Amino acid sequence: MSVVYSIVGTKGGVSKTTVAMGLSIWISTMRPKERVLLVDGDLHVRSVELKMCPARDATLADVFAGKRSWEDAVYTCQLVSGSELLYPNLAVMPAGRRFLPIAKSGEIAEKLDRARSVLEEMMAELREKFHTIIVDTPASVGYEHIILTAIADQILYVCEANDDSINSTLATAKGLEDFMKVEPAGVVLSKVMKGFNTRPWLKKASEIAQVLGVVPFDESVDDAFRDNLPVAAAYPDSKASLAIKEIAKKILKSSPPAPTKLSKRLDFAVERVVERMNVKK
Ligand SMILES: Nc1ncnc2c1ncn2[C@@H]1O[C@H](COP(=O)(O)OP(=O)(O)O)[C@@H](O)[C@H]1O
Ligand SMILES: [Mg+2]
Repeated sequence: MSVVYSIVGTKGGVSKTTVAMGLSIWISTMRPKERVLLVDGDLHVRSVELKMCPARDATLADVFAGKRSWEDAVYTCQLVSGSELLYPNLAVMPAGRRFLPIAKSGEIAEKLDRARSVLEEMMAELREKFHTIIVDTPASVGYEHIILTAIADQILYVCEANDDSINSTLATAKGLEDFMKVEPAGVVLSKVMKGFNTRPWLKKASEIAQVLGVVPFDESVDDAFRDNLPVAAAYPDSKASLAIKEIAKKILKSSPPAPTKLSKRLDFAVERVVERMNVKK
């Protein structure tokens, strides 16, 4: 059975991509016989693409545009040790440049409907091929975001230990649960400084969902980032990487959520996108 997790955080820079890459790496390492896919949903920053499969040709954006099949856009993770692939059972789908096609306002609903059927078909087929699918999402709650959360069985929230990050994540989580019935897998408190009193923040974060772990602020993450590598690959034994490993273990231990009934959620997602763009469907 397959599971789809979207990694969501309402602010930029909170560690979503670091956690998404780390979880994919650790889950693929701990379950070598299973196939794991990391989908890069952030078309603006595209860190996953840059760090895990730079020599890409087809992308998620191309699949949406109907230019390429999803098979073309799935690449084995290119991270190597010498000439050996480090994670042969980990695949990556790069984001590409544009998620949904640009269209005149009158055509948006029609184009969205097409993107929607592509997505439905793609997710059904990906579920056949991969055990775990992790979707990294962008910071803003734009239409890309709505659609990328709609495809998840569960959402893993990532936030920092401050009111801005936790309050906005709480509001987003509530909206997604109420309107789309997407349940949380849990929440990760990220970039926590050494010696910091986490207790009040853990309590606050637990209003979002069960706290699955705390990732410390760790310079290894930034060092790896600058070298265009995920910390879990460059410094697997660093504090941040090991904290992500523990979160991966918890996710693997928990009983998998029921697979999403995609079509209903996509109805909602498309409606919201059209509403936001203020055009008639
Ligand atoms: N635990 C951490 N400790 C130190 N720096 C971190 C940590 N997590 C992320 N960073 C740094 O913060 C920046 C943003 O991280 P990223 O994972 O891309 O966040 P997001 O995807 O939420 O925007 C990067 O420069 C990264 O190196
Ligand atoms: Mg990111």
